[in-house]
Amino acid sequence: MAHRFHRMEYNHHLSEVGLTLKGCLVLVMGRRYKSIARGLAVGTLLTSYMLVLYCLSTPAVKQKFRVALSCSNQRLVHSSTHTSQNRTGPSGECEPKVDIMFMKTHKTASSTLLNILFRFGDKHRLEFAFPDGRNDFFYPSPFLCSQVKNYQPGACFNILCNHMRFNEYEVAKLLPADAAYITILRDPAELFESSFHYFRWAIPLTWGIRGETKLTEFLRDPRSYYSPESYNSFYLKNLLFFDFGLDNNLEPEHPLVERGIQSLTNRFNLVLMAEYFEESLILLKDTLCWTMEDLLFFKLNARKHSSVSRLTPELRAKALEWNGADWRLYQHFNTTFWAKVEVYGRTRMEQEVRELRKKNAEMAAICIEGGVAVDARMIWNRDLVPWQPVGESSILGYNLRKNIDPKYRELCRKMLTPEIQYMSELGVNLWLTQLWGWVKDTIS
Ligand SMILES: *[C@@H]1O[C@H](CO)[C@@H](O)[C@H](O)[C@H]1NC(C)=O
Ligand SMILES: *[C@@H]1O[C@H](CO)[C@@H](O)[C@H](O)[C@H]1NC(C)=O
Repeated sequence: MAHRFHRMEYNHHLSEVGLTLKGCLVLVMGRRYKSIARGLAVGTLLTSYMLVLYCLSTPAVKQKFRVALSCSNQRLVHSSTHTSQNRTGPSGECEPKVDIMFMKTHKTASSTLLNILFRFGDKHRLEFAFPDGRNDFFYPSPFLCSQVKNYQPGACFNILCNHMRFNEYEVAKLLPADAAYITILRDPAELFESSFHYFRWAIPLTWGIRGETKLTEFLRDPRSYYSPESYNSFYLKNLLFFDFGLDNNLEPEHPLVERGIQSLTNRFNLVLMAEYFEESLILLKDTLCWTMEDLLFFKLNARKHSSVSRLTPELRAKALEWNGADWRLYQHFNTTFWAKVEVYGRTRMEQEVRELRKKNAEMAAICIEGGVAVDARMIWNRDLVPWQPVGESSILGYNLRKNIDPKYRELCRKMLTPEIQYMSELGVNLWLTQLWGWVKDTIS
């Protein structure tokens, strides 16, 4: 599937800025011993980073491609070797669905699912709609199709799966009309706890909270700490609602909450549940006509157990009350999820989940040194070290076993490759993300 598009003007601009900044980076790294110089450089880089972000988010760039033909009007131009229809083959077997929108929500095991999608796209040589220079679509700005690398009006892609703030109308322009829309949810209390912890350095609202257990203190009286206008405040309230492009500050009883949930119900073909990840994958296989092999996974981007705080029932209740809109969303889709399992057949589901677990365990024995996830510091291959939150290294990763049967080597390596590295491998130059990573590691 070799769509070749003219690179757009602003991409050139982007790479120029990239080169300049990379130049600075090399210069700065050469003088690491001078801490003052380093401090200055970090300041300069941070400023540049902000400036670049600012430039990238100015409307001038985005407005340029507003008058866009949509992919769905261009079905004939879409020279896919795969049919995106869920057709039944001669042997009665269905054909795998290859046009997929995966709405990647935050802190919901979505990195593990992303790895599954990357491998599926890789295997079928599908066209990914990737961001340019970074691993998200200008989150938290709403998604625009002009943010897609190599986007041209009318261009069709197969898979769209990076972090974004969902914007249905813009997404639809990039994919065939019959693309499958999937997403994943997680219990909002757990998600809140995870987000509070993972993004705490990015949320000024939490910086001033006193005490050992900031989360407990915050939930004691959230309204006294929270303000919707504050920078990155959405990480602290109804993050799912926010990710789906809805208003995260609605009270749960507000009619727009129900309306939002309904619109998602109409749009998404399948909503997965992080708590029932294997069951979710089996439903995914059924919906997209995939194979069991397509579903193999190792848990990626997981937090170290020591840093996962367990919510008491009391805190959990408070967290759910505080994230009331997300709680309604979650309960709604939990109900529809189990209704789907019922239709699929409980026993059949149990058998398949058992089979998937068995295969995953077999793969773990084949691929992973020691069979378990380890601290990032213990990973000897840089290509397998996962991205860490600012100021700590709490995200676990894996070491590839040394003597792997050559027939499993590639599969193992791909299954263990974290998001950022896998995207680079799929041809995205992530200079902006990498620069930010370097700045982050230097200041922390
Ligand atoms: C694809 O086919 C399978 C099996 O026939 C069916 O269960 C599933 O709902 C279909 N998916 C879509 C997206 O049409
Ligand atoms: C989701 O639904 C299942 C099955 O009905 C139920 O056992 C579970 O408690 C529900 N989860 C939540 C968080 O409500």
